[in-house]
Amino acid sequence: MVNKAVLPVAGWGTRFLPATKAIPKEMFPIIDKPVIQFIVEELISAGIEDLVFVTGRHKKPLEHHFDISPDLEVHLEQNSKDEVLKSIREISHMINPIYVKQKEQLGLGHAILTACPAVGNEPFVVALGDVILERGSENLKAMLDIFSRFKNTVVALFEVDYEETHKYGIAKVKEIDKNVYLVEDLVEKPKPEEAPSNLAAVGRYIFTPSIFETLEKIKPGKGGEYQLTDAMKLLLEKEPIYAYKVEGKVYDTGNPLDYLKTVIEFALKREDIGEELERFLLDILSKRSQQLNIS
Ligand code: UTP
Repeated sequence: MVNKAVLPVAGWGTRFLPATKAIPKEMFPIIDKPVIQFIVEELISAGIEDLVFVTGRHKKPLEHHFDISPDLEVHLEQNSKDEVLKSIREISHMINPIYVKQKEQLGLGHAILTACPAVGNEPFVVALGDVILERGSENLKAMLDIFSRFKNTVVALFEVDYEETHKYGIAKVKEIDKNVYLVEDLVEKPKPEEAPSNLAAVGRYIFTPSIFETLEKIKPGKGGEYQLTDAMKLLLEKEPIYAYKVEGKVYDTGNPLDYLKTVIEFALKREDIGEELERFLLDILSKRSQQLNIS
């Protein structure tokens, strides 16, 4: 039974500087809900309740978000803002978080190792704090089923264009069931011509505690960081790793362009603002194409 998750949220977010100087990218809003809340909701609906956040010095806003806010609650109560008050209360009662500090940002592998004392000797989910999955809890439930079948590491994969393989950890796989694979090798950010497939790690994993021993053994890899992919490659030498190809869309909110695309897509689906946003977008796009035709 898996009921713990580690959420590494201690990265610098350099692709978003200067915005991430004081605000963690995991707290950036998708209209009015921070990215990290989508991920927390995904974990809770998949039945994972003990959440370990790996945070850094600049991540206080994230801790505040899941804490109670008595002054705000009083204000909302006095102004009869019942609906929003309910949602604010739900957030503060959503989880019982454990916060672990990653004192130096030495990479994702190091962030996960930092969570070891809080995880202990049990299997756990890792959910990256800047990736939203359209069908998050369904995918995670499918991964949990694979884990209970094989009792070994499970990694979530999704298909990317070959031109994009240099941005991801790419897996060489053998299909053993519909959307279920045995991982044969992992390559960190390969060029398209060197990529063994176009199946990329998407930021959801289920590990057994043996990942901690492997994380302790690895040396800094690409970018001088302790890479999770390197630890998983080492793990592959002694035990099998399974993979699940996720269903639905994947939203990477960790870089400005993909973040913006995510916000627009989510906003277009909203009943309160979707139609007006669509009219606005069509209007600016048609004016822009008229201008391009004139010049
Ligand atoms: P990223 O590589 O996307 O995050 O790591 P980053 O390093 O903050 O981003 P850039 O490249 O500088 O823009 C994926 C996840 O792992 C966490 C990040 O917070 C993010 O949610 N992470 C990364 C850590 O917790 N610690 C680290 O040392 C590195």
